[in-house]
Amino acid sequence: MFDGNRVTAHTRSRYPIFQSPMTWIARAPLVSAVSAAGGMGLLENSIRDLSVTTREFTTIRATTNQPFGVNLPIRYLQMDPKEERAIIDWLLGQGVHFVTTSAGDPTRYTRLLKDAGVIVYHATATLRGAVKAVDAGVDGLIVEGAESAGIRNPEEVHTFALLQAVREKVDVPIVAAGGIVDGRGMAAAFALGAEGVTMGTRFVASFESPVHSNYKNAIVTVPITGTMMTDNPPRARSRGLRTPYSVEVSEGKRERLPRNATLDMLYVQGDVENTSGAAGESAGLIHEIKSVQEIIDDTIKGFWREIDRLAGLRPRESAMAQR
Ligand SMILES: Cc1cc2nc3c(=O)[nH]c(=O)nc-3n(C[C@H](O)[C@H](O)[C@H](O)COP(=O)(O)O)c2cc1C
Repeated sequence: MFDGNRVTAHTRSRYPIFQSPMTWIARAPLVSAVSAAGGMGLLENSIRDLSVTTREFTTIRATTNQPFGVNLPIRYLQMDPKEERAIIDWLLGQGVHFVTTSAGDPTRYTRLLKDAGVIVYHATATLRGAVKAVDAGVDGLIVEGAESAGIRNPEEVHTFALLQAVREKVDVPIVAAGGIVDGRGMAAAFALGAEGVTMGTRFVASFESPVHSNYKNAIVTVPITGTMMTDNPPRARSRGLRTPYSVEVSEGKRERLPRNATLDMLYVQGDVENTSGAAGESAGLIHEIKSVQEIIDDTIKGFWREIDRLAGLRPRESAMAQR
């Protein structure tokens, strides 16, 4: 169905739809469900713990025989060079064929991974970062517009402009991130030069996502203005739900919680008001919690519907000749 698509040729998945790597969330239940449904599940590694990686990886392998990949968040891994080395050595021993790298310098792992035969895609939110990653030898890019959830580059360029700017400068396949929840967004991303899409917030609000139902319900009920950017010192900014907590933090009236506190308070206990759960502008486009299978099936159906609709706009040849 996606014959000739360079992303599925690299991932070996049925569809060019990724599930974004998300701390604590992108683990075995979600990753295996996405891969089993024909998407590309990606196992997150942000807590730098080989025992967790091994446990989750083994569970995914036992649950689905469909392809999945692993994300290496460079800046977080390099904080502990010993664990970083252990995770990469372990990964290379597993025959993993597809890795995404993010949050850091793409030259750090690309050559090492490529020499071992691994396909590498690098996630970036800037044109400069995209060009640097291609120069480092990556096979593809994940281009994240400023609509995206989570920690963001302070240089804010939104998906519509960023995809076109990157497409103009590089030849490798692009996977678009930010503002995409369905086939309409996927078709739009393809029109702007992408050959695949990745979704984060959409998959948080899935039955298979392990977070508390209050967080999922908050995503499906917020309006399109329901997210905001807050500072995330020292450099980055962060997009999350607009809550009393996030408004007070941005006004300097309240201290930002440590990262792990949010995991416990929101993901486990469901306290939406006193945290700022990561969410993209896409949250305003999500209206119901669905299974991963439904999300992927609906996205593919909607994608082809949009492609047909756009193709229908083309004048017939006879009409063209009369012009
Ligand atoms: C709950 C959540 C947690 C995230 N955690 C991470 C993370 O740990 N590392 C990372 O590189 N990106 C993280 N992201 C960002 C995603 O990788 C992706 O760029 C983003 O979700 C795309 O935008 P969307 O959410 O509108 O689909 C997170 C996103 C969400 C929603």
